[in-house]
Amino acid sequence: MTKDNYILAIETSCDETAAAIVKNGRELVANVVASQIESHKRFGGVVPEIASRHHIEQITITLEETLSQAGMEIDDLDAIAVTEGPGLVGALLVGVNTAKALAFAKNKPLVGVHHIAGHIYANRLEKEFEFPLLSLVVSGGHTELILMKEHGSFEVIGETRDDAAGEAYDKVARTLKLPYPGGPHIDKLAQEGDETIDFPRAWLEEGSYDFSFSGLKSAVINKLHNAKQKGDILEDKNVAASFQASVVDVLSTKTYQAAKEYQVKQVIVAGGVAANQGLRKALADKFEGEEIELLIPPLKLCTDNAAMIAAAGAVAYQQGHRAGWDLNANPSLSLERYANRSLKQS
Ligand code: KG4
Ligand code: ZN
Repeated sequence: MTKDNYILAIETSCDETAAAIVKNGRELVANVVASQIESHKRFGGVVPEIASRHHIEQITITLEETLSQAGMEIDDLDAIAVTEGPGLVGALLVGVNTAKALAFAKNKPLVGVHHIAGHIYANRLEKEFEFPLLSLVVSGGHTELILMKEHGSFEVIGETRDDAAGEAYDKVARTLKLPYPGGPHIDKLAQEGDETIDFPRAWLEEGSYDFSFSGLKSAVINKLHNAKQKGDILEDKNVAASFQASVVDVLSTKTYQAAKEYQVKQVIVAGGVAANQGLRKALADKFEGEEIELLIPPLKLCTDNAAMIAAAGAVAYQQGHRAGWDLNANPSLSLERYANRSLKQS
């Protein structure tokens, strides 16, 4: 029996100030998320400077609340993990510097975590991984298909060539004058509407697992402008349903094809767009009756949180990864570079 380990993680890569404690990489002990969405809403998107300022204001109380939820002190922890990238540099810096200060003051190991590795590992809080597995990562900044052959190994087999899926959702939502972030609003409208418009699907070259959503986004915006000029009435719910049908069709079909080609045991969906009802249903339909297990985290673990960073951090910690005092925010950190990092960074 190995000794239990407790990892405290901090996540500040975008607009949520989050901290969490996870036991043995799989058991949620405390999870606190302070969202800034209200402050960014009136700007229709995240304003980086405002995000950084909020993180500074929130980080201490978020940490205190996390420790109090867990009934623990920093001395009880085995390591401190933090999102080092990708994300907004000013926002990431708040988390990285807080984690470094805590680790230094309390003499705890420091572990850097890639934000997307975190989104994937959110699923391990629900179910143990079985390799090889395929992860569809769909968030505001990412749309990727990632093959994992073992813990900590990430191979990107497909990615978006332009907009991320969540970004397309947010831009279409803005055109429909829906509040930020638009994804959940479009999702809700789509449930009420019908696919009355045949929007394009970017399949790209035969066999490619890459994605492209900018053409679809432009097609929706053009359709709305043309209808307005002609005085035609397009119902928002049908536009939302037609847009969502196109996104979901491409995402679920490519995920299914890749899962078959790479003969994976599990398919894991991660990131904010994993909350999408249309996508959850389409994937459940595709994998029904298949031997491949489909895992989609509960809604609260789909969007940004620190429990996922602690879950990924626990694996990195057990594999011997330690960050040095020179750990820095890395706004464009690639997943493959992160996976291939050396054990001791100092
Ligand atoms: O993972 P996340 O919280 O932050 C990033 O790392 O980007 O993802 C946020 C994205 C936003 O674009 C938001 O509109 C989208 O996830 N999103 C959704 C839904 N819920 C959140 N998109 C479609 N349907 C949803 N239900
Ligand atoms: Zn995220």
